[in-house]
Amino acid sequence: MNELDTHARDAAVRALADARRILALTGAGISAESGIPTFREAQTGLWARFSPEDLATPEAFACDPERVWGWYRWRRTLIARGGVNAGHEALAALERHRDVRIATQNVDGLHAAAGSSDIAELHGNIWRERCSACAANTTTAVAPADEDAPLPACSRCGAPTRPDIVWFGEMLPADALARAEQGLNEADCVLVVGTSNRVYPAAALVETAIAGPATVIEVNPEATPVSTAVDVALRASASHALPALVAALDAAPARR
Ligand code: APR
Repeated sequence: MNELDTHARDAAVRALADARRILALTGAGISAESGIPTFREAQTGLWARFSPEDLATPEAFACDPERVWGWYRWRRTLIARGGVNAGHEALAALERHRDVRIATQNVDGLHAAAGSSDIAELHGNIWRERCSACAANTTTAVAPADEDAPLPACSRCGAPTRPDIVWFGEMLPADALARAEQGLNEADCVLVVGTSNRVYPAAALVETAIAGPATVIEVNPEATPVSTAVDVALRASASHALPALVAALDAAPARR
């Protein structure tokens, strides 16, 4: 892992340099090097250790909000401690060269923290809460969570609030999905970073990209179901491959 194939790297740099608009589709892998577990990694993945039915469904929240909040507060603490990594920073830096929209499945808020300016959060955001009754929204500070704090209640109606996250069986936020699809239609180059491409409808965006005219570059240390169909596969970690691509663009003569 992490030895970038020079041929693949050069092809990726050419595609990025030739692009006017870039869409980056990101998943849990881009935050892995911040010490934030991914979902499906054997043993270490969250779903190898916890059951999604007990933690990431509206039914689980209705049945045991304490347990669900305990788990999200634990994840908030991991995210606050881990912070952004070189992969997040490189995607933000890519905006120096091209228009970049990020459509992310991640709820950690780290793309915004790294300075990216155009982000569609397909699965919500762990730092936002919404009322489970009246849907009033609030946002909390990025900080390790006090796990003994009382469960948050809605300031408007007093009902329990829940993390503003898309749980299994729930619809994606229409505006975020629309912006991801618009980004896909306008992109000349699509970066697919750190996702196993197993969860829909986000995985369908990748399939649409592959079927379309844009050049698709996958960044993932492991193969995924789309690895044989993308134009360029960089078998490396995000925080290794993405800075290398941006450094090559920095070194190349400007072509805007
Ligand atoms: N750099 C790049 N990719 C990495 C790295 C890394 N350092 N480490 C792991 N990966 C890759 C893994 O090889 C895997 O393909 O990231 C991918 C993570 O896959 P998942 O754990 O399935 O995460 P993701 O695709 O984001 O899951 C989608 O599923 O459970 C739901 O809502 C949750 O948003 C999540 C969705």
